[in-house]
Amino acid sequence: MAMVSLKLSAPSSQWIAGEGSFARRSRLLRTVPPRRVAVRSIRAGSYTDELVQTAKSIASPGRGILAIDESNATCGKRLDSIGLDNTEENRQAYRQLLLTTPGLGEYISGAILFEETLYQSTTDGKKFVDCLRQEKIMPGIKVDKGLVPLPGSNNESWCQGLDGLASRCAEYYKQGARFAKWRTVVSIPCGPSALAVKEAAWGLARYAAIAQDNGLVPIVEPEILLDGDHAIERTLEVAEKVWAEVFYYLAENNVVFEGILLKPSMVTPGAEHKEKASPETIAKCTLKMLKRRVPPAVPGIMFLSGGQSEMEATLNLNAMNQSPNPWHVSFSYARALQNTVLKTWQGCPENVEVAQKSLLVRAKANSLAQLGRYSGEGENEEAKAGMFQKGYTY
Ligand code: 13P
Repeated sequence: MAMVSLKLSAPSSQWIAGEGSFARRSRLLRTVPPRRVAVRSIRAGSYTDELVQTAKSIASPGRGILAIDESNATCGKRLDSIGLDNTEENRQAYRQLLLTTPGLGEYISGAILFEETLYQSTTDGKKFVDCLRQEKIMPGIKVDKGLVPLPGSNNESWCQGLDGLASRCAEYYKQGARFAKWRTVVSIPCGPSALAVKEAAWGLARYAAIAQDNGLVPIVEPEILLDGDHAIERTLEVAEKVWAEVFYYLAENNVVFEGILLKPSMVTPGAEHKEKASPETIAKCTLKMLKRRVPPAVPGIMFLSGGQSEMEATLNLNAMNQSPNPWHVSFSYARALQNTVLKTWQGCPENVEVAQKSLLVRAKANSLAQLGRYSGEGENEEAKAGMFQKGYTY
């Protein structure tokens, strides 16, 4: 791997700003011993070129991410909704259905897996990672260790997982993962407190630096929860604050912006707000926020669905792609890609094929939305059903 080394050179004499004329500066330089200025390296590790390539390939036209990185507990909730027990066998069967869908790679460029899935194989012994590679889908891995209460905050939480992260990332890379995800949350009804925002941003930045150091493109996900009865303007305000802080700490940690992907929430009113916003309004506010906060060096914005219905998530994405954006604007949905699939499958082997077709329907709809060409025609009632649950935990 080529080692890219970018260095800021030490300031020369001309650099002593605000000292007036050249003659005066020369006089000063004769009498004052030269200031020693430390050479500061801008971080660029051994994986930099590969990170940039990985991020670009995930952010490729008409494609987005299939998020199936539910922890065992959350996957259990999914299985329970169709009357299945939360066993390793059932989790494997469900993930096999999703990951072996023929033709998935036309619309999906990356799949986020939970650790268990990264090491699993199909029932006839093919590694899931190889199934994905065959479809030119990058395998990704959830690396955070979940949310716990944040002492000293307003009932908010923080995300664990930095301990041992470097060695876990190195192992995941060996196993075939090429990108990572860390999801932390910010709650509008709880404040958010300055402490919770700072903690979320700092944790994301440390994780991003560690993931990059080990060859994984970090997906940076401060999810601003849909919970609350606030208006869209309030979400815009909080999202601007959160992303300002996230980018501040990403820069402080010398994260290579060309080698990250973002996973923001769309800017919407709170789920319990009296009025719903149209896809055009959501797109306008979301893009306004992103344009104010996200440098164009970032290759891709891969939205989460956050409890929107499958169709809402697709319509909103489509509205955001009606004119060119500085970044690839796409999807990284879990609930908004899996809902119909799960209901179609019902745990029956004879339903696998039709369930896979329903995954392709959703993946294709979002692919069209990424290209700004989705019309919403012919969608069934299931796709229109909202999935918001108050206080939902992943
Ligand atoms: P949803 O699309 O269900 O909000 O998924 C979010 C997520 O982070 C999964 O990786």
